[in-house]
Amino acid sequence: MLPGRFVLLILFLSLKHLSHGMLTETASLFSPFQIGNITLPNRIVVSPMCQYSAEDGSATDWHLVHLGSRAVGGAGLVVAEATAVSPEGRISPSDLGIWKEEHVAPFRRIVDFLHQQGAFAGIQLAHAGRKASMCRPWEGERIATVEEGGWTNVLAPSEIPFAPNYSRPKALDENGVRAIIHAFAQAARRARLAGFDVVEIHAAHGYLLNEFLSPLSNHRSDAFGGSFENRTRLLLEIVDAVRKEWPPSRPLFVRISATDWAEGGWTLSDSIQLARILRQRGVDLIDVSSGGLVPGVKIPVGPGYQTHFAEQIRREAGIPTGAVGMIIEPAQADHILRTGQADLVFLAREFLRDPYWALHAAQHLRQKISWPVQYLRGAGTDVPSREPVSAEEAESLRIS
Ligand SMILES: Cc1cc2nc3c(=O)[nH]c(=O)nc-3n(C[C@H](O)[C@H](O)[C@H](O)COP(=O)(O)O)c2cc1C
Repeated sequence: MLPGRFVLLILFLSLKHLSHGMLTETASLFSPFQIGNITLPNRIVVSPMCQYSAEDGSATDWHLVHLGSRAVGGAGLVVAEATAVSPEGRISPSDLGIWKEEHVAPFRRIVDFLHQQGAFAGIQLAHAGRKASMCRPWEGERIATVEEGGWTNVLAPSEIPFAPNYSRPKALDENGVRAIIHAFAQAARRARLAGFDVVEIHAAHGYLLNEFLSPLSNHRSDAFGGSFENRTRLLLEIVDAVRKEWPPSRPLFVRISATDWAEGGWTLSDSIQLARILRQRGVDLIDVSSGGLVPGVKIPVGPGYQTHFAEQIRREAGIPTGAVGMIIEPAQADHILRTGQADLVFLAREFLRDPYWALHAAQHLRQKISWPVQYLRGAGTDVPSREPVSAEEAESLRIS
């Protein structure tokens, strides 16, 4: 009798211990991540998403609310959308830009707010290349006329339009290429002035830098076209120029399309080779997306359809990666990290559906993360509170 009850007691205690252990175990999704000299509080990144809501390139109240609410919602890193390094590098006349000093102050206001919420702030620097001067997506996939604020100076590696309903681009000459490198570097300098913690160079989705990488869009015969070495030259020179303006302590990401999904195009093995070089050039993380260079390709879209690219690049190039693409469920995101496919998860559309995704994911995974003190009454019991820190306090906690 007594030994039986004793066994039951032991069993009960060990189960309790086990379940307690499971409850308090840190999910990878909510483990901190050190990169450069910042430590992100969790692995959740708001993927850059164009809002087409800027005024002459300047961030507006929309951007403050859009990015700010996702910081309130607990994301560790909030990355502002593709931000043009020159006016003709915008996708649409309503894109964000960072080509002049006047753009810094509106960004500063947003960055300060993100910091006050305990989030880190990133910005994606971009040039739209041959996909520039289009209308906003909800106005239809067509060229923006000059009357609508569009422009005719659409630039690319070669004079090959993306599709019949896009502009016929002008091929950049050597001076034009140099001007683009300079524009990226100056944009990085302004991003620093605005207080951003992370810069991401946009070399994916068929925009200018991706166009230089892919043999399908780059038919040049000069030093920026032809061989792998030549096609990657522009991106590498931009990385070097940006690194001169962007301190080594601050993380530098590059977003790539791991494959064009097209015969004769850029491939995963090109991406691995490029990632190895980028690592040596001081890039801290590759944000691994795919496609966008040519229309009409077949992409096997489904949950996590790109994460295996992130995994292979991470393993074979030995560089941290971010996974993106139909990451929706908290357990799915956690699994990507636990199984070593990536170091960070970037979520886009799910964050449009739920700005508080990170707070909800923590509840699902039974993790404790802080809720804004103003929202505690909706948070349930035993939830730590997050007091906003002052801009000065946030600044003093940050890097030089
Ligand atoms: C509204 C919207 C705007 C986007 N803008 C950008 C952008 O500025 N830069 C970029 O690299 N990707 C952009 N993307 C792509 C997303 O960052 C992401 O890679 C893609 O949506 C796949 O992730 P998801 O399945 O979580 O949405 C955008 C996506 C959406 C839905």
